[in-house]
Amino acid sequence: MQASIAMKLRDYRPADLESISCIEQKCFPAAVASSRETLQRMLSGSASAIVAETPGGELGGFVVYRKVNRVTGSLLTLDVLPEHRRRGLGGRLVSAAKERLAEMGVEKIRLRVSTDNAAAQVMYERLDFRRVRRDQAFYQDGSDAWVLETMPWAWSLNPAAVWTRMRERLRHFRVTGRLRRFQERDQS
Ligand SMILES: CC(C)(COP(=O)(O)OP(=O)(O)OC[C@H]1O[C@@H](n2cnc3c(N)ncnc32)[C@H](O)[C@@H]1OP(=O)(O)O)[C@@H](O)C(=O)NCCC(=O)NCCS
Repeated sequence: MQASIAMKLRDYRPADLESISCIEQKCFPAAVASSRETLQRMLSGSASAIVAETPGGELGGFVVYRKVNRVTGSLLTLDVLPEHRRRGLGGRLVSAAKERLAEMGVEKIRLRVSTDNAAAQVMYERLDFRRVRRDQAFYQDGSDAWVLETMPWAWSLNPAAVWTRMRERLRHFRVTGRLRRFQERDQS
């Protein structure tokens, strides 16, 4: 790994849209890259992003993530500009998104990566993602994607995340318990 660069991670702001859109076009082939409009739609909906900023205020990479349901989150895109690669920034962005999703109660993260993208596959494997299936012709050019998921045992023990998960579980048991009692009363 090369010497670490002083990149600060912070939450995405709408003023970053132009920069992240440029980065996305530089990082992915046209058939895979999300357009500016798609990124804007994601980020004004349920998705959030974390960006990496140089001390000079330029963006060097970003990750977009969202909570899909009670226990599942997804990474929608991850980009690091070529000049900032192999310094741990991709890993830092994924870990930061994992932390945020864990705080929202998410237990499992899913993502898709092109079957041709060996670099990203190596990185995700090192971050405890495992292949669960192959989506045929997922991309516009007809190429395939691997669906990767994190293993439950790989979850961080961040106290905020543990607390949120406990609360969600309790709520779930209370709701299903109430439903069972209601059904039993109905049958008697
Ligand atoms: C994939 C990507 C995000 C990695 O970013 P990065 O900042 O270089 O990642 P890291 O420095 O955290 O790399 C972590 C590890 O992943 C592996 N890795 C990353 N790039 C690699 C490459 N080109 N070849 C082989 N292994 C690679 C290495 O094991 C690396 O550790 P090391 O540098 O100590 O050997 C970046 O290459 C990128 O933006 N690519 C284009 C867009 C993309 O593919 N996004 C992800 C697909 S969803």
